[in-house]
Amino acid sequence: MRTQVAIVGAGPAGLLLGALLHKSGIDAVIIEQRSPSYVLSRIRAGVLEQVTMDLLDQAGVSARAHAEGLPHDGFELLFKGQRHRIDMHALTGGSRVMVYGQTEVTQDLMDARAAAGLTTVYEAANVQVHDFDGATPRVKYEKDGQTHTLTCDFIAGCDGFHGVCRASVPEAAIRTYERVYPFGWLGLLADVKPVTHELIYAHTDRGFALCSMRGNTRSRYYLQVPLTDKVENWSDDAFWAELRNRLDSEARDNLTTGPSLEKSIAPLRSFVAEPMRFGRLFLAGDAAHIVPPTGAKGLNLAASDVGYLWNAFADFYNDKSRAGIDTYSDRCLRRVWRAERFSWWFTSLMHHFPETGAFGQKMQEAELDYLVNSEAASRSLAENYVGLPMNFGA
Ligand code: FAD
Ligand code: DHB
Repeated sequence: MRTQVAIVGAGPAGLLLGALLHKSGIDAVIIEQRSPSYVLSRIRAGVLEQVTMDLLDQAGVSARAHAEGLPHDGFELLFKGQRHRIDMHALTGGSRVMVYGQTEVTQDLMDARAAAGLTTVYEAANVQVHDFDGATPRVKYEKDGQTHTLTCDFIAGCDGFHGVCRASVPEAAIRTYERVYPFGWLGLLADVKPVTHELIYAHTDRGFALCSMRGNTRSRYYLQVPLTDKVENWSDDAFWAELRNRLDSEARDNLTTGPSLEKSIAPLRSFVAEPMRFGRLFLAGDAAHIVPPTGAKGLNLAASDVGYLWNAFADFYNDKSRAGIDTYSDRCLRRVWRAERFSWWFTSLMHHFPETGAFGQKMQEAELDYLVNSEAASRSLAENYVGLPMNFGA
């Protein structure tokens, strides 16, 4: 089989790239190691920046996000038992975010791909990338016991943090930066009405909590937990009781509980691999970088990488220009490091770090007090939260 762009991974990055390339008349095949239902079963991100919505618009896959997503103009910070609203819309001169789950984005992209008759090979085993330092890269994989080779002009490594693409780059050609945090997030999804109509980020001496949602009748809540905790030891009742402990009295009274649809623990990590291009192999999304989830930047960064890569390939095929290809890594990394900084800062501000003790807690409370009372500080938080434009600082 031959294609112009071989995409490894059918998560949001790979599927969005496939949709955008199709709009530009560029042929792409996606190779995914899991089944469609497995990909859809992963409950992850929930907040889309305008930059991501714009790319979904350009890919022609945003109708349901506009119809069913919840536009949010603000969110709340809870500390010392009081909630304070950050009015993103006013502070940024009109920006907002869209609350719409990653599962739904993935479903919309899968449906559009199927409707257009585009090729996605699911349940491909032993995927390998070869010859990306030459003119004719190849992706090899096994399907139904047979070995297949996909020849292409370029490989897009959209295969997530544990994927094969980054791992196939010679060690001497890549540099990585990493911070692992000493706690995880226990997430719970339930068909109950959200506790408020906006998100609450809660700082407490028991640890961080986040109240989010997936619509007007489905809630997504998170608790900071020690990495040693096991999800099977957290009953639904224990989760709701601990969440209550981390909320203010009004939210406690308004909290509706119910049986969980899903519960899982995610470790928190900051990670960047540099560069993001190796000859004809381009990394995008979690394959190249991870942010801790506080502030919801992971999926949005994956989308903006894909935006740069789509432009680079469109320039190459339509205008015979290599400029986008040659600047891809640098352009992505500037945006990636800004989001890494924001996610690290917001994580450091909101979580309980046992090793920093009571002094560390006081520093966080003082910074939160400054943040909600200084318009300059609130604006800085708001402009990062809604997402910086793709050409920021260009
Ligand atoms: P992925 O979604 O990881 O997709 C990669 C795809 O590649 C997968 O389908 C995988 O099966 C496939 N693949 C892997 N290896 C191979 C291989 N060898 N061959 C072929 N295919 C392969 N972000 C937020 O913004 N907010 C959140 O609340 C949030 N919560 C998260 C919770 C968890 C538990 C995790 C893990 C991440 C969370 N994120 C969150 C991050 C966000 O989900 C990711 O940034 C986003 O999924 C990145 O998309 P991606 O397509 O780059 O990678
Ligand atoms: C969600 C996750 C986040 O990390 C965040 O900052 C906001 C919302 C969510 O899953 O809904």
